[in-house]
Amino acid sequence: MLAELVLRELTKVFRARREAVVAVDHLNLAVGKGELVTLLGPSGCGKTTTLRLVGGFEDPDGGAIYLGDQEITHVPPQRRNTATVFQSYGLFPHMTVFENVAFGLKTRRVPRREIRDRVRVTLGLVGLAGLEHRPPSKLSGGQQQRVALARALVVSPQVLLFDEPLSNLDAKLRVETREHIKRIQKELRITSLYVTHDQAEAMAISDRIAVLNQGRVQQIGTPYEIYAKPANAFVADFIGRANLLHVKVKAVRDEQTELELPNGKTISVSGFPDLVVGETVTAVIRPEAVDLAPPESGDLMGKVIFAHYTGSLGTYRVELWEGTSINIEVLNPQEEGFLEPGLLVGLRLHRRTIHILREQ
Ligand SMILES: Nc1ncnc2c1ncn2[C@@H]1O[C@H](COP(=O)(O)OP(=O)(O)O)[C@@H](O)[C@H]1O
Ligand SMILES: [Mg+2]
Repeated sequence: MLAELVLRELTKVFRARREAVVAVDHLNLAVGKGELVTLLGPSGCGKTTTLRLVGGFEDPDGGAIYLGDQEITHVPPQRRNTATVFQSYGLFPHMTVFENVAFGLKTRRVPRREIRDRVRVTLGLVGLAGLEHRPPSKLSGGQQQRVALARALVVSPQVLLFDEPLSNLDAKLRVETREHIKRIQKELRITSLYVTHDQAEAMAISDRIAVLNQGRVQQIGTPYEIYAKPANAFVADFIGRANLLHVKVKAVRDEQTELELPNGKTISVSGFPDLVVGETVTAVIRPEAVDLAPPESGDLMGKVIFAHYTGSLGTYRVELWEGTSINIEVLNPQEEGFLEPGLLVGLRLHRRTIHILREQ
């Protein structure tokens, strides 16, 4: 895929009086033409700073930014072909919807007639036709965010930047607006860099996700790749929930690897030919990849110490031995009956979804 936006070894350090915070640390990323890539990570990991560097609102301490075939590392923001959608919408309260969307075109001295046409088309695209003359205060949060989206789209930016655009909306609107953004982004095939701390949102909207921690990229991949094959324990735990169990490699032959569980039982998984017999590794076990079994016939046995019922899902914590427990989720708990705390259960691990991490 042709890269439209490239960040190379991008670094930003904030210096306060005594300490220096490395907000973005030698970050490498390429966003393909028409692709939506999300920066995902906990609060403070450097997502907004990275986005501001791309928009030109911060000056990097190292590295370079390329847009198309141009280096834009130190180009001022108004001369970069980017537009940003913010969490707080950032609309002008004293202007109508039309005036808000037209603003960027006016400052670019686009002829009036063209402004009128482009604003109309863009408002239609985001589903706001007919609301041109309202002030933003007479719109719902979701509508206001769509005005902000229209305002960013109308200038035909080469790259669209989103900083937590859904965080001010309630749960239902968040899902609706997210689908809206994704549909328009695909329709226009507009290259996008999207920032969120919400992993479900990132999974739903992204072509690829870059997981960040402390200014560093942990892994870049499709939602499927980062969930099924997390690169390290941080990614495994940040994307969904993960049980991390130390196991010992007993045998490696052909395509099969035999692992010894802490209780002495062995299970056989396929793949991982690089493992060495005798080494201790971490097995990543997803809560949904465990089945209940009679106590003695599972791979593991334990006592239910926490049970949470939501109707569609039973969520349990099962203590295997003192100090170690594992979280499991059972879809449609009505089938086997909801488990009460105190009960002894067996657990059978789905071999095919176990992922192995080398310990670092
Ligand atoms: N203007 C600033 N001055 C000093 N420190 C900053 C500034 N902006 C961000 N930081 C620090 O840089 C780090 C990354 O912040 P930020 O990019 O806002 O993270 P995120 O958007 O992932 O929550 C944090 O430790 C934050 O406190
Ligand atoms: Mg932020």
